[in-house]
Amino acid sequence: MSHEVDIVRAVADLRNRVRYWRDQGLGVALVPTMGALHQGHMSLISHALEVADRVVASIFVNPIQFGPGEDFARYPRQEAEDAAQLSKAGCHLLFAPQVAEMYPDGFSTQVRVTGLSEGLCGAARPGHFDGVSTVVSKLLLQVQPSVALFGEKDYQQLAVIRRMVRDLDIPVSVRGVEIVREEDGLALSSRNAYLTAEQRAIAPALYRVLCATAEALAAGGAASDLCPAAAQSLVAAGFDSVDYLELREADTLAPVESVVRPSRLLVAARLGTTRLIDNVALTP
Ligand code: PAF
Repeated sequence: MSHEVDIVRAVADLRNRVRYWRDQGLGVALVPTMGALHQGHMSLISHALEVADRVVASIFVNPIQFGPGEDFARYPRQEAEDAAQLSKAGCHLLFAPQVAEMYPDGFSTQVRVTGLSEGLCGAARPGHFDGVSTVVSKLLLQVQPSVALFGEKDYQQLAVIRRMVRDLDIPVSVRGVEIVREEDGLALSSRNAYLTAEQRAIAPALYRVLCATAEALAAGGAASDLCPAAAQSLVAAGFDSVDYLELREADTLAPVESVVRPSRLLVAARLGTTRLIDNVALTP
């Protein structure tokens, strides 16, 4: 039988628990999440268990990374099920603070990574990455882990966090972990739960189109031809609209026309009110 994961809600308790481990010379990893855990999150936990002696997961639906009219209120919250999954996986501690613990009255600080936070998801979700950078810098300072793990599905988020950690000299190693997919290719996401059966049947086109476009780019095609055509195929497949489908340089996210350096083909598209994102890696 697995040991039940301990849950702490106060930063002071979190710090005490982590300090005790650190004093024993144990390495600590952090897996920040917003809960509604799926196999993608559990893959972050298992990678964390491989690289550290103790693993802290956080669950916090961070209000400041949601824009007005976005899904903050309806974002799935299922702490008991999440805690059971974390226990089974062997996670050592769950930090699940209330909003007032993270943002007490008078909270006035924002962390903003310029450049990387603009464009792609930043264009459709103004302020989103400021909310992410702010909460992730707080979590990193609260836990002070040696390693922090993030999924590659949110690729722009990962790039923003890497840059923030570098720019602010935060002493942590940031690891990106590969996307986990359903059998039909759909990247796992807590937001897949919003899809109707009909939308769910359309959704795998996202990855199919990315893969076909990646192949055409690898064969020497130009992004400026292939990406708009790929966006049109998504609409033809049943997506309501495409926010972006673009080839970017892997680290800087600068737009590129062909794959001469490690690159990413990134997409965000909408099925009804649900916005799905995905990406694939391309190497020269
Ligand atoms: O990827 C997420 O779930 C969130 O953006 C994160 C990194 C936990 C910050 O709230």
